[in-house]
Amino acid sequence: ALLGIDIGTSGCKALLIGTDGAVIAAETATYPLSQPRPGWTEQDPELWINGARQAVARAVARAPAVEILCIGLSGQMHGLTPLGADHRVLRPAILWNDQRNGAECAAITEAAGGLEGLLAATNNRMLIGYTGGKILWMQGHEPDLFARMTLMLNPKDYLRLRLTGEVASEVSDASGTGLFDVRRRQWATGLIETAGIDPDLLPPVFESQQITGRVSAAGASLFGLPKGVPVAGGGGDSVIQTIGSGVIGPGELQTTIGTAGILAAALDAPQDNPDGKLQVFCNVAADKWHCMGVSLNAGGAMGWYRDTLCADAPSFETLAAEAAESPAGARGLLFLPYLNGERCPHPDPSARGAFIGLTARHRRADLTRALMEGVVHAFADMHALMRPMGIDGRVIKASGGGARSALWRQIQADMFGCDVVTTEGAAEGAAFGAALVAGLAVGVWPDAATAAQSCRALTRERPDPQTAAVHTRAHAIYRGLYPALSDSFA
Ligand code: XUL
Repeated sequence: ALLGIDIGTSGCKALLIGTDGAVIAAETATYPLSQPRPGWTEQDPELWINGARQAVARAVARAPAVEILCIGLSGQMHGLTPLGADHRVLRPAILWNDQRNGAECAAITEAAGGLEGLLAATNNRMLIGYTGGKILWMQGHEPDLFARMTLMLNPKDYLRLRLTGEVASEVSDASGTGLFDVRRRQWATGLIETAGIDPDLLPPVFESQQITGRVSAAGASLFGLPKGVPVAGGGGDSVIQTIGSGVIGPGELQTTIGTAGILAAALDAPQDNPDGKLQVFCNVAADKWHCMGVSLNAGGAMGWYRDTLCADAPSFETLAAEAAESPAGARGLLFLPYLNGERCPHPDPSARGAFIGLTARHRRADLTRALMEGVVHAFADMHALMRPMGIDGRVIKASGGGARSALWRQIQADMFGCDVVTTEGAAEGAAFGAALVAGLAVGVWPDAATAAQSCRALTRERPDPQTAAVHTRAHAIYRGLYPALSDSFA
């Protein structure tokens, strides 16, 4: 069997799968996030270690007889785990959704010679929350701790250290530091130097499918795993879950409706990232890259809507069942989902949400449907940025909590004009991708495409051509709304 361990933001998942890709055991242990100040999000790395110990112990207990051939790691990206002498943790990790480092991200961009220079060095913007800006933040705001820092690791790489004793990262998580030359799959040494960052703070980087070490004696007793099991590089969660959803080839798109919405695809070459509006990272497949757009408001918008506007506190299933009564296009009602500002395609923290076109004949069913359609319009909007890169959508593999709604899947099929499928692997999230990459590391599958095919399809929605004209017209209006309204948001 193969073991995938995912260090998420709200918990750790341990997943055992067979060499046929079938799920044997899936166990999660949750942990909290602390917000010591507005805009700050932190986690004590010991929470990850304890979460992993619990989740792994429970998963292994479900299948005590299986032999674990290899372990793959995944985790929340962009987190800074600062380590000092003896690899001791110096302060709580600063997480991906932390907002404190805007000034430092701007300073790195300036050091690179502006956005153009940064795109030349890394093919990405330095987004708030990326690890690079956090290193400078510690330097400026916690100089005593910074002086003691000898190494920084992303969350899953800290787990690797405790599991194997090895210091290592891999190309997908390294991409998310904003200090990585994604085109050449190596640290962007020139940028790191001009930004004034000591390159010795950064771990060595492997390909995701390489074996980076083996479970040590200490790791074996800590996690209750056999000593000597190989540990593969693994990957950052939003990259590795793409292969985990079965998306690796041309024409395949992955959509994730979680709190945020993610549209992702694999690339055969490190194509230029137009204006840095997308995130172009190294894929966990060594000959591929990963392109994604993140919309900050997807399932989160639905949660807000239910909690704020629906006095009877309906379940999401009830709301979706109601929304199915409203026709495609929600009787001319449109929803802009930018409730928390936006990242892609509009990198604008002051973007705001809106219902547009309200009339007295609209019912709650129409509002709900408009909201669900708005989230999919945002996917289509991001796809428009990807199309010039040759990324077309011939099939969508849907994941995240929103993929449980047949209506939300149907809206995606109708708006993109292609089939939407869900797979067994996608339902398990990034841990499934981590288990697949572990299998690739020990030769269970000959290549990433074969591994991706081991995901069993669970559901399939087909596009209804009757709705195409309605959605095309609505999308043209949707795309005009942000440019028309952005001044009034400021
Ligand atoms: C990716 C991103 C998130 C985190 C959290 O850029 O910010 O997907 O990895 O899980």
